[in-house]
Amino acid sequence: MLFKQQALLRQKLFVLGSLAIGSLLYLVARVGSLDRLQPLCPVDGRFGPRGQEEIPLRALQFKRGLLHEFRKGNATKEQIRLHNLVQQLPKAIIIGVRKGGTRALLEMLNLHPAVVKASQEIHFFDNDENYAKGIEWYRKKMPFSYPHQITIEKSPAYFITEEVPERIYKMNSSIKLLIIVREPTTRAISDYTQVLEGKERKNKTYYKFEKLAIDPNTCEVNTKYKAVRTSIYTKHLERWLKYFPVEQFHIVDGDRLITEPLPELQLVEKFLNLPPRISQYNLYFNATRGFYCLRFNIVFNKCLAGSKGRIHPEVDTSVITKLRKFFHPFNQKFYQITGRTFNWP
Ligand code: A3P
Repeated sequence: MLFKQQALLRQKLFVLGSLAIGSLLYLVARVGSLDRLQPLCPVDGRFGPRGQEEIPLRALQFKRGLLHEFRKGNATKEQIRLHNLVQQLPKAIIIGVRKGGTRALLEMLNLHPAVVKASQEIHFFDNDENYAKGIEWYRKKMPFSYPHQITIEKSPAYFITEEVPERIYKMNSSIKLLIIVREPTTRAISDYTQVLEGKERKNKTYYKFEKLAIDPNTCEVNTKYKAVRTSIYTKHLERWLKYFPVEQFHIVDGDRLITEPLPELQLVEKFLNLPPRISQYNLYFNATRGFYCLRFNIVFNKCLAGSKGRIHPEVDTSVITKLRKFFHPFNQKFYQITGRTFNWP
């Protein structure tokens, strides 16, 4: 009798335990569905058809790894067919500026359920060898996405490369172009720091920033130095404006993206005609990193790699002053053209 009661109790406990585990799994799945795998809203405006049917993603919501694989271009033929996945040419490109915060911008936009990022810099338009491979080669480099999502890629070299505006225009004359800028002198030092780190990794020595940025013969700013030239934003933008009207560009404040990313991202959502979906929940400040990191859901979050947010070397204040004075008139022109003013010194 006692044995029978014990068996009954064990059976009851088993049923209760299974129910508890089942509910827990359900809850985790529900929270997980706050992630980008949630049925995706149709995108407003030019980027996709409205009123599209919900995509049967429920089953996939448990398999975040699977969509990740799609994004890397690893979907099987069956998965592609079953989920109607496509590799689409980008509807928007982050064309620059190098060290402006291009990676952070791309990763943060990728929080939006209707955005799919090309993980690698493709360098299609700035590299003659790649460009010669043709537009199908470029498309095949894109991640898998649903037809109503938009693909975004970033290759910061596009902004400063002579041939790129015409090439992009030939692909899509109505493409949306994103440019993320930082205070030009800080950007130039960041650019230098990246090159310096590369040299140090190869045990090579390198010049000091001051020596590169200032011409020793004239004591003026050395405009032949690439890190200086890249920061003359207006010069590059003027080349782009020969092909695209100014309305097709959106300027992102890279300094503000570091300290207060959400409003900058909301402006981009608007520019891309996307419904506002990125929220403060998706961004949290990580004191150890000293930067905002990304939160997709309660289980999945990430910070950018350590190569983003390097410590800059100290630069002689007189050189900084000289550079800032040099950039000043170009900055004024940049504000005038773009209609966006920054508090750059
Ligand atoms: P520094 O390394 O000079 O700090 P890019 O991706 O275009 O190479 O830009 C790199 C810059 O992105 C970094 O420059 C860093 O300041 C900036 N950045 C902006 N938001 C960031 C974030 N959330 N995490 C890391 N770096 C970020």
